[in-house]
Amino acid sequence: MDAPTDLVNLAARLAREAGDMVANGRRTGDLGVRTKSTATDMVTRWDSASESLIVDALRAARPRDGIVGEEGSRVDGTSGIDWYVDPIDGTTNFLYGLGGYAVSIAAADSTGPVAGAVFVPASRELFTAARGRGAFLGSTPITCSTSTTLDTALVATGFSYDSDHRRVQGSRVGAMLPHVRDIRRLGAAAIDLCHVACGRVDAYFEEHLQAWDLAAGLLIATEAGARASDFAGGAVKPSETVVCAPGIHTALLEHLQRTA
Ligand code: IPD
Ligand code: CA
Ligand code: CA
Repeated sequence: MDAPTDLVNLAARLAREAGDMVANGRRTGDLGVRTKSTATDMVTRWDSASESLIVDALRAARPRDGIVGEEGSRVDGTSGIDWYVDPIDGTTNFLYGLGGYAVSIAAADSTGPVAGAVFVPASRELFTAARGRGAFLGSTPITCSTSTTLDTALVATGFSYDSDHRRVQGSRVGAMLPHVRDIRRLGAAAIDLCHVACGRVDAYFEEHLQAWDLAAGLLIATEAGARASDFAGGAVKPSETVVCAPGIHTALLEHLQRTA
C-alpha cells in the first residue's frame, strides 16, 4: 500500500525542481518553440526538459508505476499507480513572459487522484493535496469559497486550442457573463483549480481538458472542499469539468445546461 504522503512529497519535490529549471530556462531567452495540434498550440524546449526531469526521477524512484506526460511520455505500470504530468501548464503564458504557468504532477489509482502538487514558479507557491488529508498552500491548510450566489461569483474558465471548440466556449462564456460577478481566463487550468481551492475564485469550468491538466488540481480543489462534476452533474471528467464552491454548484450546472 502506498502512503499518500510519500506520493505527495515526491510530486512536490519534482514540481519544485522542474519549476525552478523552467523559470531559469525562461530567463536565458532560449525557448526552442514549436507548434503542436494547431498554429497556436505551442511547446518549448523547457516543456520537454521539464517532462524529462520529472519522468526520469519518477522512473528511478518508482519503477513499477505508470506515467502519462503531455509531451509524449507513456510508461505502462504494474503497481496500480499512474502519474499524470503537465510539465508546463500555461505554456502560452510561459512563452509570453507572463507568470501564470505551473508544473502539475499527480499520482492516481483506480479510483482517481491520490496525491497532487502544483508549483507556480513566478509566485513560488506550492499547492498540494493527498486524498483524505486536506489541501495546502505551502504548509497552510486551504479551503474553497463559501459563496452561495452565482450572480456574485467570480468564475474562471479556459479555452481549447481548437477553433471549433472555441466558438462554443465563447458563446457559453458570453451567455454567462451577465449572470456572474465576472469571468477570469488566466491561462493555466491547474492554477485555476488551485485558485478554486484557496477561494481566489468561486468556480472554474472548462471543456476538452486532458487528464494531465486536471488530475492534481482536481484533488487539491476537492480536498479543499470544492464540489466537482461534469456539466450534467455526473462524474467529473477532463472533457467536461466543473469545480466550484458547493453552495453554487447547482446554479452553475443549471446555467451550463442552458448554454450548450
Ligand atoms: C492549457 C491551459 C489552458 C487551458 C487549456 C490547456 P497547456 O494547457 O491549461 O488554461 O485553457 O485547455 O490545454 O497547453 O498550457 O499545457
Ligand atoms: Ca495543460
Ligand atoms: Ca502543458
